[in-house]
Amino acid sequence: MMFLHVLLLFCASPPSAAEGRLRQFYRLNNKTNVSVAESLCRVNYTDLVTVYDQQDNNKLLQLLKNSSSQQGWIGVYRGNYSLKWSNGDEVSYSRYSPSHSDQTRCAAMNAVGDWESILCTETKHFMCYEQDGAGASSYIYTLIPQNKSWFDAQLYCKENHTDLVSIRNQEENTLVLTKQDQSNTPFWIGLLNDSVDWSDGGRSAYRNWFQNTDQSKTYVYMIFTDGRWIKINDGQFNPLCYKSFIHVSPAEMSWEDAMNYCSAHFSRALCLESENDQTETQRELNRNNISAPVWVGLRQSRLFGFWIWINGLEVGNWTNWKGGMAPEAALSQHCAAMEKVNGQYTLTDKDCRSTFRVVCETQ
Ligand SMILES: *[C@@H]1O[C@H](CO)[C@@H](O)[C@H](O)[C@H]1NC(C)=O
Ligand SMILES: *[C@@H]1O[C@H](CO)[C@@H](O)[C@H](O)[C@H]1NC(C)=O
Ligand SMILES: *[C@@H]1O[C@H](CO)[C@@H](O)[C@H](O)[C@H]1NC(C)=O
Ligand SMILES: *[C@@H]1O[C@H](CO)[C@@H](O)[C@H](O)[C@H]1NC(C)=O
Ligand SMILES: *[C@@H]1O[C@H](CO)[C@@H](O)[C@H](O)[C@H]1NC(C)=O
Ligand SMILES: *[C@@H]1O[C@H](CO)[C@@H](O)[C@H](O)[C@H]1NC(C)=O
Ligand SMILES: *[C@@H]1O[C@H](CO)[C@@H](O)[C@H](O)[C@H]1NC(C)=O
Ligand SMILES: *[C@@H]1O[C@H](CO)[C@@H](O)[C@H](O)[C@H]1NC(C)=O
Ligand SMILES: *[C@@H]1O[C@H](CO)[C@@H](O)[C@H](O)[C@H]1NC(C)=O
Ligand SMILES: *[C@@H]1O[C@H](CO)[C@@H](O)[C@H](O)[C@H]1NC(C)=O
Repeated sequence: MMFLHVLLLFCASPPSAAEGRLRQFYRLNNKTNVSVAESLCRVNYTDLVTVYDQQDNNKLLQLLKNSSSQQGWIGVYRGNYSLKWSNGDEVSYSRYSPSHSDQTRCAAMNAVGDWESILCTETKHFMCYEQDGAGASSYIYTLIPQNKSWFDAQLYCKENHTDLVSIRNQEENTLVLTKQDQSNTPFWIGLLNDSVDWSDGGRSAYRNWFQNTDQSKTYVYMIFTDGRWIKINDGQFNPLCYKSFIHVSPAEMSWEDAMNYCSAHFSRALCLESENDQTETQRELNRNNISAPVWVGLRQSRLFGFWIWINGLEVGNWTNWKGGMAPEAALSQHCAAMEKVNGQYTLTDKDCRSTFRVVCETQ
């Protein structure tokens, strides 16, 4: 019965424009200090905004454009120094040799594959990566022979590839090293050592500081002129909040029960309508440190063999399947879950009777 319904929908509904479908930004009207701002955001929204990329920064600019003050609190504050990868991966492997400094340092790979600690403002060639379509866990590496600061290199890679390269083990380190150019000069990789944390625990290594901001300041607000962030200890500004429309159930259940749980309590189980949805979901799972499989609203037709989202959409060609392609009918189990494999979120087929947590859409 359910599949008949799904097939009908499949014919009826075109893909919707999905920009920002799973996360929205809001500006509250009250000017407050940062602790009140944070608690106001947590009343009706999720938290103060975590800015993941230039697109997010631009969205905030749009949001502030019409307001009188053109300033507001974002969720960034000063924590302890720690290493992070530009793409939000956990740092599980490192060849970084630390050096103490009161300025932010980034890593560059040298001619023997060790990672040097260098001021992020220096300019170097850099290595970008993107997903290899033929195997979800392997990367395609591209060395860009242009001299850029680490942050400009990050912008370049995020726009023209996936991100600055992250390296998860010895084999990958060796692979990246083989892609260096003949000059053997150190090039940026995606590793950053700074003292920035986000109010919601989000893993974002995107930064947009106003030049020469004072390291001793704690929280950060954002001002309108070209969207740069300024460090400050106190002040009264508008809270910039976000709401996530993704909910992960606390309890584990079968796929069928999971679908019912989502439609009973929220809108429906999560459907990845676009690459952007996939990115947002990964951010939310990363933020909550979830790597075990979680059900999503994707199932295989036992009759026809194709995979289809419960909202009737086909599976996009950007989808990260474990092993690089959708599991084929005769060999596969018929329900899909998202899980973190080798540091990366992929979709994988699971026995529909297995019990996992489920990701729901809440609007
Ligand atoms: C927000 O501002 C309004 C109007 O100034 C005020 O009545 C209200 O109490 C404020 N709310 C908070 C939570 O500060
Ligand atoms: C923020 O403002 C509230 C209420 O005005 C006050 O109770 C609190 O101490 C202030 N917090 C800081 C860190 O200044
Ligand atoms: C939360 O939403 C309710 C209902 O819309 C509203 O009355 C209240 O003022 C909101 N509170 C905050 C802090 O935004
Ligand atoms: C800003 O104002 C313009 C024109 O008044 C309007 O078209 C636009 O929707 C507003 N943007 C926001 C984010 O409110
Ligand atoms: C920094 O680390 C110290 C010692 O581990 C800890 O006590 C402190 O809470 C940390 N500060 C922050 C902001 O996480
Ligand atoms: C990061 O930088 C801080 C400050 O310079 C330094 O104390 C710390 O050892 C560095 N961390 C690592 C893992 O290199
Ligand atoms: C980048 O800078 C290095 C060192 O300053 C220089 O040797 C190299 O030629 C520069 N590369 C480009 C493409 O400008
Ligand atoms: C992306 O690549 C193009 C062509 O090399 C370049 O002009 C553009 O500046 C790059 N984007 C960024 C953000 O650097
Ligand atoms: C995330 O989970 C892993 C294992 O599930 C654990 O080792 C790690 O400490 C957790 N990290 C945080 C920040 O909670
Ligand atoms: C995915 O599909 C779109 C639209 O059909 C197409 O433009 C794009 O080249 C495809 N990408 C890949 C990696 O196959």
